[in-house]
Amino acid sequence: MTNLEQDYTQPLGLDVGTSRVVVARAKDKKQDYDSQLNAFLTLPYSKLAESLLQRENVFHEVQGADIVVAGNDAERFAEAFHVETRRPMAHGVLNPEEPHSLEVVRRIITKLVGRAAAEGQKVFFSVPAQGESLDGAIRYHEASIRQILAELGYEATPIEEGLAVVYGELAASNFSGVGISCGSGLCNICLAVLSVPVISFSVPKAGDFIDAHAAQVTGDRANRLRISKEKDFQLNGFTGDRVHNALTVYYQEVIANLIGSLRAHIASAQKLPKLEQSVPLVLSGGTAMPKGFLDHFIKILQSEEFPLRLSEVRVSGDPLHSTARGALMAAQC
Ligand SMILES: Nc1ncnc2c1ncn2[C@@H]1O[C@H](COP(=O)(O)OP(=O)(O)OP(=O)(O)O)[C@@H](O)[C@H]1O
Ligand SMILES: [Mg+2]
Repeated sequence: MTNLEQDYTQPLGLDVGTSRVVVARAKDKKQDYDSQLNAFLTLPYSKLAESLLQRENVFHEVQGADIVVAGNDAERFAEAFHVETRRPMAHGVLNPEEPHSLEVVRRIITKLVGRAAAEGQKVFFSVPAQGESLDGAIRYHEASIRQILAELGYEATPIEEGLAVVYGELAASNFSGVGISCGSGLCNICLAVLSVPVISFSVPKAGDFIDAHAAQVTGDRANRLRISKEKDFQLNGFTGDRVHNALTVYYQEVIANLIGSLRAHIASAQKLPKLEQSVPLVLSGGTAMPKGFLDHFIKILQSEEFPLRLSEVRVSGDPLHSTARGALMAAQC
């Protein structure tokens, strides 16, 4: 695996997500994105397999008795080799049960950002906000990603994912409002006032929760449920299809849990600043993408009084890039 040749010396935004790693670069007053699946597979080493992978230009590395295929190529080759892809991260942080986790994330990040083109080049990278079951894991995760980036020559700064969404989506309201990223490992939520985070937290029910629980009740593999969910799932009530219905049940649970946690955090906040104006709420991340998500979210939000005046509730126009875009905007400030 080779590093990128770099001639881009500007700041970077990096979204280190449980299922995808995305880098954002500034280009002609717009953003340019590149991404890799945060996944890998291992094959037993053989000379033949290695030369075939080399010939096919597959992103791989030999590690002892294994060949590790990482990133987008892992999914591409999983079927061909009849193996399951593995994930170096779970619930927004490095997966403690996966011995290859740090090395795979290092390789994927290196492939996406390359060595810094100038010493001390700035990069802001996303990290999850505190939440149940994460305890001290965030600190280790954050330090590990920072170290990977420092070894590549970057001056790396963490930014909580919800705040990155505020930066990426809420410029029009002076970075005041609620930014939410519904990802695969977590939902990350941030209420910010003039770009200062007031409430920031994460909840562990998100895309992976939907896939795993729907798979449990239908007897399918979680990966198959994920593919069907991403292909054509709509949150539009029950139908005659049991996979659709299982996805619906757990999607509804994710939304109820997210809104319930948001209400509880706002209600228990000690010093919530008095907001003169109502503020927007924006939803992003892959899990917010299906048709019907926004309608159901608004329905649950309106089912009880909400402790914050909202001017609008919308889904990002580019939900898979919000976090990286926001991290880039923060890096440019
Ligand atoms: N079109 C789609 N419809 C429904 N779900 C989708 C779609 N595209 C992606 N997803 C789901 O969104 C999740 C990935 O979203 P995203 O890329 O925002 O997560 P991530 O940033 O990698 O994870 P996290 O923020 O939790 O660390 C996965 O659960 C995936 O199955
Ligand atoms: Mg994310």
